[in-house]
Parts: sequence; C-alpha cells; structure tokens
Amino acid sequence: MYFNYYSVISKILFRAELSIIGTVIIVGFYLIFKVKYSKKKILCGKTALVTGGSNGLGQQICIKLAQQGCNVIIADISSASKTMLKLQPYKIKSREYKIDVSNYEEILKMREILSDEFEFIDILVNNAGLIPYKTIFEQTSDEIETLTKVNLNSVIFMTKCFIEKMIENGTGHIVTISSTQGIYAFPYSLNYCASKFAVTGFMLGLKEFLRRQQLKGIDTTCILPNVMSTRKDIIDIVNEKRTLIFSADKCAETIIKAIINRQSFVTIPMYYGLIISVFNILPFSIQHFIRDFIMREDLFLKK
Ligand SMILES: NC(=O)c1ccc[n+]([C@@H]2O[C@H](COP(=O)([O-])OP(=O)(O)OC[C@H]3O[C@@H](n4cnc5c(N)ncnc54)[C@H](O)[C@@H]3O)[C@@H](O)[C@H]2O)c1
Repeated sequence: MYFNYYSVISKILFRAELSIIGTVIIVGFYLIFKVKYSKKKILCGKTALVTGGSNGLGQQICIKLAQQGCNVIIADISSASKTMLKLQPYKIKSREYKIDVSNYEEILKMREILSDEFEFIDILVNNAGLIPYKTIFEQTSDEIETLTKVNLNSVIFMTKCFIEKMIENGTGHIVTISSTQGIYAFPYSLNYCASKFAVTGFMLGLKEFLRRQQLKGIDTTCILPNVMSTRKDIIDIVNEKRTLIFSADKCAETIIKAIINRQSFVTIPMYYGLIISVFNILPFSIQHFIRDFIMREDLFLKK
C-alpha cells in the first residue's frame, strides 16, 4: 500500500502549529484576565526603598512612586539631590542615604537609622547596577569584582535585610531590575550577563520559596528591560547601532503598573520574553543563524 509521508508530516505539523497558536492564545487571555481582575496594590501611604535612585531608571521609578503618593527612600552611592528636588512637589516623605549597597555592614547601619523614622518598608526596589562598556578581557579583575558585587550581592544583601520584617508582618513587595540579558546570553558583556542571569534566578527562586512557605502576602516582581536611554554613553552606542531603545520614563511606568498588578515577571517590551524563551529552546545551529543574520551582535564590538 502506498504511504504518503508528505501528507502525514504536513498533518502533524498543521496540528502542532494549531496547538502552539492555541496555547499562545489561551496563555495570552489568562494573563490579560489575571492583570485586569487581580487585586490591585494601593501605593498611596506606603513606603518604598529604591537603590540607585539618583540617576536613570531609579530616578524615574522614584518619581512615579511619589506620583502615586508613596513615600520614597533612596539608597545610592552618589548624591540623590537632583531626584530629591524632583520629589518635592509631591506630598510624600522622601529621604536619601548615601551608601554602597554592595556593602552588607552599610546596609545594616542604614536599616537601623531607617527604623527610627519608618515603621515598615513596604516595597524594596533593587535597581542599582553597573553596566560595563568593556569586555571581560579589557576589564581589570577589580572592575569585574565590583560589577558582580553591585549587580548581584547587593540584591541578595538588600533582600535578606528587608524581607525579614516583611515575613514577620506577612506583607511586602520585592522588586528587582534584571535585564533582557538576564535571559538572553549576550556575548560581549559576559560578566554583566552572568550577574543578570543570577539575579533572574534569585528572583524566580525567591518567588517559589515564598509560595512554599505560604507567605502569600509578599509579592515579587522581576523586571527585564531591553536597552534604555538612561546614560549618554548608552544612547551613543545605540544610535550608532540603530537598536530599539526605550526611555527610562516609559520603563518606569511599566514597572509601577507591574507593582500595582502584582506581576512576577515582566520583560520590556513584553513580547521579548516570548521571543527569547522560544530562541533559548532552539537547536544551537538555528540560534547561530539568528544571531549572525538577525541579531548581528558583532556590531556592538568597538571598532
Ligand atoms: N540602561 C539600560 O540600557 C539597562 C537595560 C537593562 C537593565 N538595566 C538595569 O537597570 C538598572 C538601572 O540602570 P540605569 O541605566 O538607570 O543605570 P544608571 O547608571 O543610570 O544608574 C544606576 C544608579 O545606581 C547607582 N549605583 C551604582 N553603584 C552603586 C552602589 N554600589 N551602591 C549604591 N548605588 C549604586 C548609581 O549611582 C546610579 O545612580 C541597572 O540594574 C541596570 O543593570 C539597564
């Protein structure tokens, strides 16, 4: 009997295609439904501690929190006077602490000072981070160590220090800024990429830990933005390479919505999450083709 392989394969592919499209539609509807009808978090009257709030994304997050009526505390190694000025029009309490958030002792000292004035930190935003403009072969070992400490240790230290009281009170929110490089392996910023993959893993693990401990009142939000126009050096590189870039203001808006809607995992733009997840499960030979002909990452190497 004649067996038509072509027809069988095309039927299987057609069914597979339908089930993938079906799954995407169902998951899409579930997410829209969840965001629309889940209990919203009210930020008015709450207190948020934002690391790296003196510049870039951190500054925009502080402003958006203040617009919602949320008290804002900034922990930054540089002066946050510019952000503090921008917070003045809002009827909220704002404070700045000049500390190195990768230093555990300094965090403990800040926590003690804070406890005199603020009864409870409702929201911790781990935003401070260093972005390298050199490959690991051009960076000194000190630069590599500092980047890991600021991007990774600070997130773990800050969370450890401030989640204790959240667990005691059964309520709170830990927000961490990772990056799309925390799920997509970019070849020319290896240590940055490693620190952001680690931060993504930390946040996903933390979410699961809280679920297992039945601490339903504590939310976690991991934000993974693509390139943002926060610094002149980033804007210059991106303009040269013509990459999609987002303003810190727009990203901060998405982050505040994610906090209010208690979203756990948000890529900016949203569709990047889906694209990168599919990319990561493709065979390496297909990934190489996409990297060479679509991503064209070599353009990011300094000429
Ligand atoms: N800009 C981008 O393209 C981009 C893309 C994805 C993710 N991110 C992430 O977003 C976050 C904010 O980035 P940004 O572009 O606004 O950076 P930025 O350099 O504009 O701001 C970072 C802030 O962190 C502070 N900081 C640095 N080291 C510190 C330390 N040891 N202790 C306390 N504060 C410290 C700096 O003083 C600064 O105010 C970072 O975690 C970054 O990795 C940025």
